[in-house]
Amino acid sequence: MHHFRYVGQKLHCESVDLAAVAQLHGTPTYVYSAQTVTDNYRRLTASLAGLDVQLCYAMKANSSLAVLRLLANLGAAFDLVSGGELRRVLAAGGSAARSVFAGVGKTEAEIKFALETGVFGFHVESEPELARINHVAGQLGRKAPIAIRINPDVDAKTHAKITTGKSENKFGIPLKAAAAAYDAAAKYPHLSIQGVQMHIGSQLTSAAPFIEAVEKIGPFVEQLKKTYGISYFSVGGGIGIVYQDALASGDAAWWNARPASDRPLTSEAYGAALTPLLAPLGLKILLEPGRFLVGNAGVLLSRVEYLKRGSGKNFLVLDAAMNDLVRPAMYEAHHELVPLLRDTSRPALKADLVGPICESGDCFAKDRTLQTVGEGELVAFMSAGAYGYTMASRYNTRPMPAEVLVAGSRFELVNARENFDAMLAGERIPGFLKT
Ligand code: LLP
Repeated sequence: MHHFRYVGQKLHCESVDLAAVAQLHGTPTYVYSAQTVTDNYRRLTASLAGLDVQLCYAMKANSSLAVLRLLANLGAAFDLVSGGELRRVLAAGGSAARSVFAGVGKTEAEIKFALETGVFGFHVESEPELARINHVAGQLGRKAPIAIRINPDVDAKTHAKITTGKSENKFGIPLKAAAAAYDAAAKYPHLSIQGVQMHIGSQLTSAAPFIEAVEKIGPFVEQLKKTYGISYFSVGGGIGIVYQDALASGDAAWWNARPASDRPLTSEAYGAALTPLLAPLGLKILLEPGRFLVGNAGVLLSRVEYLKRGSGKNFLVLDAAMNDLVRPAMYEAHHELVPLLRDTSRPALKADLVGPICESGDCFAKDRTLQTVGEGELVAFMSAGAYGYTMASRYNTRPMPAEVLVAGSRFELVNARENFDAMLAGERIPGFLKT
């Protein structure tokens, strides 16, 4: 469920007419709904009410300071993967002391920064990383809190580039090698074993792979509790969202119209599946949802530059491109495109949705059918709140897009469109080229 819907003919985010946002701040612009993030957060935590849950939002999905602050105000901590993300947590006023530091390639400088800041735990992905964290902690005269990421070798049945729980992925330590890794960790004087972690992939639309993974590593988790007195089990993130029918899925009616067997994963179904498996462990449960909290809470506003009618093929050329939203080009992801002004009297248009970047990969969708829209009209890509802005780039020397946060009838620019002076600020023509 989300808060994007037509009021009369005009697409609104909560009580804000999105055309007014585009008018004031231009396009391409990401717009986020604070109420949708809040609802997602509350529903997910409520569905796990039987457990001692610490929610660490996977901020790689959307690390806008405004979104981080909103989630921090709701009580969230953070799952971060770089020194840069830790800086963002601090800048947003978030709690580093309840946040976890993940990732396969932590540098010495990042480990030092995280230790000085006092993160809740390091999620360790390899034995050499144990040695490095021990070394840095020793230099600082500290003990580093750690949990090892176990790779449960289950198939999350999601896109190949975002599945992480299979043994051929670079992530974590295989279950059969995990006991030895914990024994090694226990021997390091500057490490303190605090927990265990898993994450099997992203955009999972059924609870089955989560159940399979928890059942698979559950006995080992119990063993760790006995041997090392661990206090937490992080079950990672990965809960999927609706992309195909994104706008319609904002209404309860859309969900109620489908039998439970045909319903994408909800927080209630996730909670109902996992609570009985996790409660008996008697551990603090960390969750690391990213996409689920913010994905359906954001849209990318864009303007039609041209409708290029070809022989047998139409192209809707937008002012947004793969540099602004790379998911379709990178993962063949589907993002629904809707007009800001709905006019059911117009004929349907079948077109490829493309951006202005000079390569064929700059295509959001092929042969998409939508209401006819023409030059200068506004459109919105739905479900763009996660892995949208955070994966954007400056390809073709296009500035990073703007970001706006909506709350009720208010909206505010929370990240200005990048200007060209800022973009070029770090660049120099070297002296040896100046003749
Ligand atoms: N925890 C760990 C250890 C992760 O690696 C990830 C995501 C998450 C949590 C959060 O997963 P989520 O709840 O958002 O599914 N760029 C891709 C998604 C990459 C996900 C990487 N890891 C996309 O646009 O689909």
